[in-house]
Amino acid sequence: MTPGSKLAVIERPAAELAALRENILELKKKLKAVIVAHNYQHPEVQDIADFVGDSLELARKSTQLQAEAIVFCGVHFMAETAAILNPEKTVYLAHGTAGCPMANMIDADELREWKLKYPGAAVVCYVNTTAEVKAESDICCTSANAVKVVDSVPGEEIIFVPDENLGKFVAARTKKRMVLYPGYCVTHARLNAEQVKLARSLHPDSPVVVHPECRPEVAALADAVLSTSQMIRFCKENPAKSFLIGTELGILHRMRKEAPDKEFYVISNSLICPNMKKTTLESVLDTMRLRRNIVKVPEDIRLRARRAVDRMLEVV
Ligand code: 13P
Ligand code: SF4
Repeated sequence: MTPGSKLAVIERPAAELAALRENILELKKKLKAVIVAHNYQHPEVQDIADFVGDSLELARKSTQLQAEAIVFCGVHFMAETAAILNPEKTVYLAHGTAGCPMANMIDADELREWKLKYPGAAVVCYVNTTAEVKAESDICCTSANAVKVVDSVPGEEIIFVPDENLGKFVAARTKKRMVLYPGYCVTHARLNAEQVKLARSLHPDSPVVVHPECRPEVAALADAVLSTSQMIRFCKENPAKSFLIGTELGILHRMRKEAPDKEFYVISNSLICPNMKKTTLESVLDTMRLRRNIVKVPEDIRLRARRAVDRMLEVV
């Protein structure tokens, strides 16, 4: 989006919205379910969730819920992480085909080959991976804790998979030797340095806040490089009155809700993750009504993947 312009959204009729919400609430009670949503979800999906957060917060929250079921509004690896941590709960993904292309860029076979190539190196996997890749990893991380996780690992050499941009961000902040897998987020890769420079020239007083999945030349131009929830906290606490945001534009909903006196501009209107946008109130309703899109992980893989996720949750 041209910095300064606003998103044009056609609102759903209020009666339709109210009926959908009521049906969702009813089914939620019936299934003894809790609905959780990622910061990139559509506003109306965020608004029916019991909890909205970044990947780390959602993983941690999933272990603290008094519920028989979790309805996950996000992408597959997030629901799968909840399933890894909560084998006694039914975990639903609120849209059956919402996946993360980056999470599918490396599979367990390829990671095993890399481990053979770099014997002795520890493996740190981004949470944006499959359960099979987590099972082959020593520890998992998210964008909120990647530097602390890498620093916590014994040994000098780290294989980091799959996000090369996050890996480069960490490599610049640790003494460890990092071997980086060349994966990337197709959405964040669309943001380029020229767009950031243009936005800055139009809003010179607005801090630039971007996600570490952005290209290094974009991150280098930013005032802060943070996870999605960290970005929201940064903007609330920072005295500036307006901000230039370099991440998926779903994040604007919480920013505007939690800091209504401030202005938020997404730096490019190409920052839309099509998978995050698949979930709708209708798909949440159908998932619960038909009890479909249940995410399950085979027990041998779940136990090995859980070690990597538990280790991360112990770090921060
Ligand atoms: P966060 O963990 O920062 O919310 O990021 C998740 C993600 O998929 C970013 O593209
Ligand atoms: Fe995956 Fe990128 Fe979408 Fe995040 S924004 S879910 S990393 S494709």
